[in-house]
Amino acid sequence: MGQYKVDDIYLFVSEQGAGRPILFIHGFPFDYTIWNRTCDVLQTDFRVIAPDLRGLGQSGLPNGWKITPMEQFADDLHILRSMLGIEEKLVICGLSMGGYIAMQYARKYRNDLAGLVLCNTKTVADSPAVADNRRKQAAGLTDGTLKLSSIADAMIPKLFAEATWKNKSKIIRELRWIIETNQSLGVAAATLGMAERSDTTALLGELDIPVLVICGSADQFSPPSEMKLLADNAKHGIFVEIPDAGHLTPMEQPEYFANTLKEWMLSFDSGVV
Ligand code: MLT
Repeated sequence: MGQYKVDDIYLFVSEQGAGRPILFIHGFPFDYTIWNRTCDVLQTDFRVIAPDLRGLGQSGLPNGWKITPMEQFADDLHILRSMLGIEEKLVICGLSMGGYIAMQYARKYRNDLAGLVLCNTKTVADSPAVADNRRKQAAGLTDGTLKLSSIADAMIPKLFAEATWKNKSKIIRELRWIIETNQSLGVAAATLGMAERSDTTALLGELDIPVLVICGSADQFSPPSEMKLLADNAKHGIFVEIPDAGHLTPMEQPEYFANTLKEWMLSFDSGVV
């Protein structure tokens, strides 16, 4: 793990391997370790970089910080890119909230990008009811009436495919640990940021880069029927549905996920896509 000062905080960053850089952006309310198994596979061919986002995992949050807009996360990652000395174009890969951030990164810094991977995510904004619920959740996390364990209890039953519940229960325990040991105030700030995020659907059709859309066949948050439309909307989109995976595809099917990503990167690097 490395630590990089970005504005007034430190970001904790896992880095391995060499070659074309891929920046992995975790979802909510997780940390970089959701990418561990994927990075283990890909680090033989690529430079894999997986930070903890501002206020999540081990990364810092300034005193009194209330809301982390998706654009702020994207700005942090853009600064991180230059601190890591990356001059060539990179691939960014975001899961769920990480996908919301990846879209903002693409909107602001599209010249940095060789490709974009959207996993288990969407481009639409929250409905008023969902946004309102997030604001209540953030208020509870901030005044201490809502615990991260309650968020884990509410989310976990919907996050995984049946096959994961049957055969890979270690992963489910791992994810509970990630959520319960997260930082309440950072989670609250990210929740508020998601509630205010803009719709980025139109942007997908404007991006002149390869876009890989990956979905778990049993994802209840971003189902395959909705995610396929993202690939259809993109200029150069490809859709891949991974069997026996829910919302946490890179944890539930790491080899399948990593090999899909690798094949796609090798194809566009060789000019096929
Ligand atoms: C995530 O996994 O990042 C969340 O499901 C995103 C969200 O709550 O919209």
